[in-house]
Amino acid sequence: MPGPRTIAELLDAGTRVLADSSHIFEDHDNRYEAAELLAHVLGVEPEDVLEGDDEIVEPRRRERYLALVARRAAGEPLPMLTGHIVFYGLDLAVRYGSFVPRPSSELTVARALRKLYRRAEPVVVDVCTGSGPIALAIAAELPTAQVWGTDIDAAGLAQARRNARTLGIANVAFRRGDMYRALPARLRGMVDVITGHVPYVPPDEVDDLPTEVKAFEPLYTLADGSGDPWGLMRRAVSEAPGWLRPGGWLLLEVSEDVVPTVRRFVRRAGLEDHGAHTDADALSYVVEARHLPRRRRGARRTGRGATAV
Ligand SMILES: C[S@@+](CC[C@H](N)C(=O)[O-])C[C@H]1O[C@@H](n2cnc3c(N)ncnc32)[C@H](O)[C@@H]1O
Repeated sequence: MPGPRTIAELLDAGTRVLADSSHIFEDHDNRYEAAELLAHVLGVEPEDVLEGDDEIVEPRRRERYLALVARRAAGEPLPMLTGHIVFYGLDLAVRYGSFVPRPSSELTVARALRKLYRRAEPVVVDVCTGSGPIALAIAAELPTAQVWGTDIDAAGLAQARRNARTLGIANVAFRRGDMYRALPARLRGMVDVITGHVPYVPPDEVDDLPTEVKAFEPLYTLADGSGDPWGLMRRAVSEAPGWLRPGGWLLLEVSEDVVPTVRRFVRRAGLEDHGAHTDADALSYVVEARHLPRRRRGARRTGRGATAV
């Protein structure tokens, strides 16, 4: 019996193979992923093939597509196979060796923008920026903002800078270093919003993650390997007040199970706890906290001197 030859047959075959894979998260849309791979090989958009028609695909392209489907089923992240991901409307190039941007992080961007729209020239810091999707998206949306991204991953930062250049995003700077230490001191007390997709997977749970994560993303991008599983997250919270302006916001992207711990850190750091927010997909949660130094909280109670972001 001949193998799949038409767009429709290839899509069906790819979808079945991906659905049978135990190496990728179960919540992926397998048909759309198959369409993305086929579209990549044919040089068209996924929407052009999604309907699946009877057009016969030439043998070399069929082989290339089926090989990509097999690699995807074995766990390789889709953006690494196609070389890019569309994130908050930006077409970002992706390379092996760094954390792969997740569509779920678009929630962090949306939540940050809500806090920033009314600020004329806001300062934004994205700690643990990786290849910079959150920083790039905020900078692209708010051309008058000054956006900083920090990370210890030189390859991720190089990719972030390349994407900024390719997309013509000039109001973003990427600095290598340990979290806030990579920032210029003059930003102390000046930052309107800090965002952070900080590693939070307990190190002893990394093995339970699917192959697409544990085999393709460096451990230090997923978990704090310092011996204190909460070390990075605790620092992301406790050091934030030193950088935020009064009234500024800290937004941390986490999974649902981590929310109570991070909110505890927030309250311990003296930040005002604004809970955790998610969207219809509930793939990620954003813990939100506001820096209201003591005198300012008092001022708000008496109705004097408080301004909303
Ligand atoms: C979950 S990834 C998020 C990357 C990016 N924000 C994104 O959403 O695609 C966490 C990032 O934290 C970085 N990281 C780990 N330890 C760090 C540290 N001490 N200081 C700054 N960044 C760190 C990793 O290199 C990785 O890029």
